[in-house]
Amino acid sequence: PSRASRECPFSSESASSPARDTCPAFDPAALAREFDPFQPPYQLDPAEALRWSRDQLPVFYAPRLGYWVVSRYEDIKAVFRDNILFSPRNVLEKITPATAEAVEVLKSYGYAMNRTMVNEDEPAHMERRRALMDHFIPANLEKHQEMVRRLTREKMDEFIDTGRVDLVDAMLYEVPLNVALHFLGVPEDEIAVLRKFSVAHSVNTWGRPTDEQQVAIAHDVGRFWKYAGEIIEKMKSEPEGTGWMHETIRKNATMPDVVTDSYVHSMMMAIIVAAHETTSLASANMFKTLLTHRDAWDDICADPSLVPNAVEECLRYAGSIVAWRRQTTAPTSLGGIDLPEGAKLLIVQASGNRDERHFEDGDTFDIYRDNAIDHLTFGYGSHQCMGKNIGRMEMRIFLEEMTRRLPHLRLAEQEFTYLPNTSFRGPDHLWVEWDPAQNPERKHPALAREHLHFPVGAPSRRDIARKIRVAEVRREADGIIGLTLEDAKGRPLPAWSPGAHVELCVGEYDRKYSLCGKPGASGYEVAILREDGGRGGSRHIHDTVREGTELRMRGPSNLFRLDEQAAHHVLIAGGIGITPILAMADRLKALGKNYAIHYCGRSRCSMAFLDRLAADHGERLTVYAGDEGRRADLPTIVAGLPDGGQIYCCGPDRMIAALEDLTADMPEGTLHFEHFTADSSALDPEKESAFEVELKDSGLSLKVAADQTLLDAIRAAGIDVASDCCEGLCGSCEVSVLAGDIDHRDKVLTRAERAENTRMMACCSRAKNGSRITLAL
Ligand code: HEM
Ligand code: FES
Repeated sequence: PSRASRECPFSSESASSPARDTCPAFDPAALAREFDPFQPPYQLDPAEALRWSRDQLPVFYAPRLGYWVVSRYEDIKAVFRDNILFSPRNVLEKITPATAEAVEVLKSYGYAMNRTMVNEDEPAHMERRRALMDHFIPANLEKHQEMVRRLTREKMDEFIDTGRVDLVDAMLYEVPLNVALHFLGVPEDEIAVLRKFSVAHSVNTWGRPTDEQQVAIAHDVGRFWKYAGEIIEKMKSEPEGTGWMHETIRKNATMPDVVTDSYVHSMMMAIIVAAHETTSLASANMFKTLLTHRDAWDDICADPSLVPNAVEECLRYAGSIVAWRRQTTAPTSLGGIDLPEGAKLLIVQASGNRDERHFEDGDTFDIYRDNAIDHLTFGYGSHQCMGKNIGRMEMRIFLEEMTRRLPHLRLAEQEFTYLPNTSFRGPDHLWVEWDPAQNPERKHPALAREHLHFPVGAPSRRDIARKIRVAEVRREADGIIGLTLEDAKGRPLPAWSPGAHVELCVGEYDRKYSLCGKPGASGYEVAILREDGGRGGSRHIHDTVREGTELRMRGPSNLFRLDEQAAHHVLIAGGIGITPILAMADRLKALGKNYAIHYCGRSRCSMAFLDRLAADHGERLTVYAGDEGRRADLPTIVAGLPDGGQIYCCGPDRMIAALEDLTADMPEGTLHFEHFTADSSALDPEKESAFEVELKDSGLSLKVAADQTLLDAIRAAGIDVASDCCEGLCGSCEVSVLAGDIDHRDKVLTRAERAENTRMMACCSRAKNGSRITLAL
């Protein structure tokens, strides 16, 4: 159970907990001293158990564990990003040191678990990863979908008419194991014994067994080790065998220095757990989460295209790997805390995944969240999970099959139990119930076999859309209508911040509009200008949308954020650009800040919200109506900006260009703007050149063809980068540039930012003249 943030973190029971401010022990230093991941708070809910740390002490030493704990999103990502300074060498180390007796037992089996992939340092790791990557790239995984679906259906057919089942035992354990064995090319004959071995390996590596348990576990781990060796020998006798471990064994023969003997044996044992335990637990967490968030489950039943992002949100909200490890190779500092050389780190992804600094309203489970793929459950950077797209594929197929064939499924009454350990998390059992008489396929047998196909890889943003209803249509000014939007089922819409926009999908058109409602209003408000010379979207909305119309909507997303700390804000709007500016002004007023609004338009009758602005922001507002002969004097406005002031502009391109010129010599971050439209971003391969890109964090080198975008090339290599507009407008595909000259084609970066050459938009910008570039990705 999760607990409210104001409760005493020492207490594991919610009802009797004293409030945070009256809890005598609410002292970060004391909480750090007492932190023990084997105790109930962390075992019950690791993200909640570290809320105090995210808020107050994001990196701390936990003497009971002997590790430094890292709880914030950005710090965890920084650790993953630098695998030289933060070595992965301790990833598979026993977190509870072995007793002398257990060491002897392990020796008796010749146990010599060593470096695999996940705990290997550079340069050995990357050489090996590159040599063995091929099987994992999205294009080569497609062929496995059919097998995953077949195995899932076979299991479901066995229990679909029973009405009650433990999903873990009936499906979620065995299918991922079979998929893993098939992918690896390992014989599938010893499933029961592998289950026992996997648990022993997890407890041995990430658990806190008693001295007695250590001996029993050591025997199982020893047997697992021997068994792994025997499988390798068996597989060596089939030189033509298919599957990743066969490939590994062949590479061991052709490049023995890169794919070493020790690696092959250690990997055979580790990969069975890495490939199936992770996926089984994540799938169990997914069904538990969705069945306790019934609205989300029902939405997926009604619209299976939501499955891929729902899986991603489940991995964020309730991932199966909740904490990972690293060790510093030199003194450094992280989150403002000094770390010595050799410091062991427990980086808690479950905590980072709920960090409000990265995920808006992070405690809320929202399958429509459009940055869910930023979760850290697969790690990040050069060691990022190689099998993430296999895990995703399985979870998507499980969810698609179950929501289609058993939409009336519910969670049975039960007590959940978990294997106590720091890192692998998921319920041991998951009992579900349903009325078989209601199974839809009894009436419509074809339904049992109809399904959607999800391409391998990160979810497509196009599918992440919620259903909404237009509650009101108003006339805001000449040619401008205002819409109030509500969730189609009357549920609350997510919180949003000034500058945020939504994307409305109306007919064949997808169009973005800034939110401009008053703070605290229950629905969303947008204002839409009819653009007769435009591409048709706004005309279509004006002509077809009425009160009660149902639409799909993406977002909200915010790429035009307001820095509330600035000393002074100058807000400049041109025409319909008033919408985000209005929300910003409301917020600044609520905060009691210093601000001024300059609002330009053709004539007062074409300018929306004049009355509301006059009423709420009267003395701050200057209106420039062209037909009254008034023009905003931008040079004077910019010259009058006090030190530490910032300008926010939404308006036509020429207005933004003028402000860019005027602020060129001012400090970075002075000017913030949002454009309405991009120029055509279609690639003309005749005019483009191919170029090379090096992805530093992932250790990859790629070629971007003349007819391919950088974003497409990165994705084809299995690296996830968010994107939205794909035309250089929104900023969501921004990547950091470490070296190389960029031909910037977006409308997001300012001239100064372009000149700095440290960022680029992967959807449209390219290397200059076919040169080579290096990205921090
Ligand atoms: C690495 C999680 C499924 C193979 C990792 C890491 C995590 C992880 C956290 C370490 C990442 C880092 O250090 O940055 C998961 C989760 C899965 C999953 C949550 C399922 C939901 C799979 C599957 C396979 C697999 C199905 C193989 C078939 C690997 C390998 C590595 C790895 C080979 C080592 C990569 C390297 O160090 O270069 N995984 N994994 N994983 N995973 Fe997965
Ligand atoms: Fe919008 Fe690239 S996806 S700028």
